[in-house]
Amino acid sequence: MQLFQDKVALVTGGSTGIGRATALSFAAKGARVTVADLNSEEARKTVAHIEEGGGAAIFVETDVSDPAQAQAMVAETLKAFGRLDYACNNAGIEGVSAPAADMAEADWQRVIGVNLSGVFYSMKYEIPAMLEAGGAIVNMASILGQVGFANAAAYTAAKHGVLGLTKAAALEYAKAGVRVNAVCPAFIATPMLERAGITSNETVRGAIQAAHPVGRLGEPEEIAGVVTFLCSPEASFMHGEAVLVDGGYVAQ
Ligand SMILES: NC(=O)c1ccc[n+]([C@@H]2O[C@H](COP(=O)([O-])OP(=O)(O)OC[C@H]3O[C@@H](n4cnc5c(N)ncnc54)[C@H](O)[C@@H]3O)[C@@H](O)[C@H]2O)c1
Repeated sequence: MQLFQDKVALVTGGSTGIGRATALSFAAKGARVTVADLNSEEARKTVAHIEEGGGAAIFVETDVSDPAQAQAMVAETLKAFGRLDYACNNAGIEGVSAPAADMAEADWQRVIGVNLSGVFYSMKYEIPAMLEAGGAIVNMASILGQVGFANAAAYTAAKHGVLGLTKAAALEYAKAGVRVNAVCPAFIATPMLERAGITSNETVRGAIQAAHPVGRLGEPEEIAGVVTFLCSPEASFMHGEAVLVDGGYVAQ
């Protein structure tokens, strides 16, 4: 029997990068999966990968910064699969690189809206769907939920906020059997880093790699494995934890 046989997982931002790897990892372990994302073209590829592997998945077009759409992604999951056991609140954007005083208010609002409020709205509707049978939520934070990073005030503030939200909800729902944890990746080779000019520029890539004691960037699958571990029974005593998966970045 597979680890997540008869279980249902929802992954926000499951179209590309860490979210796609996480959706595939849930499916490979037997879960049926909802991919909730803005990017329908890439989301359909994630769904197709899962179906080609013999799994079941649906795509729900979702902007997590809109509470009504977060509510609808959970409702669509329950309609399609009848239950919700696990959620990985992973959708995120990098925002504009600028010092705080130069950051436009709209840029601040957008990053907070997706990366922090989006996690809150998702949890607000996921938790009630898990209360009867129990469940596990993994929020995608970052090393920037634990340390600062210049020219990324909104992103850093949002990720610190995700850890606070994770800890508060973990306390609120521990007795109800809903575990809430977070993962804090360092720099992972995904489309986000391409857009940010990190993997597309050899000099910048080299400098960022050198900032990790392990001397390289992480791969999306190295985060996905930790997410599915946190949802598994092996993590049954983990509540409100912020798990660094960072090649030693924060240990320095
Ligand atoms: N790549 C890294 O180095 C790194 C490090 C730490 C944390 N993270 C976090 O991991 C998560 C995934 O990022 P990634 O690196 O895989 O990047 P990515 O750009 O490949 O994936 C982000 C996904 O989120 C989706 N998305 C963006 N805004 C959305 C919205 N409003 N509603 C729904 N979906 C939305 C995108 O369409 C995309 O599929 C993010 O929360 C990011 O902050 C990434």
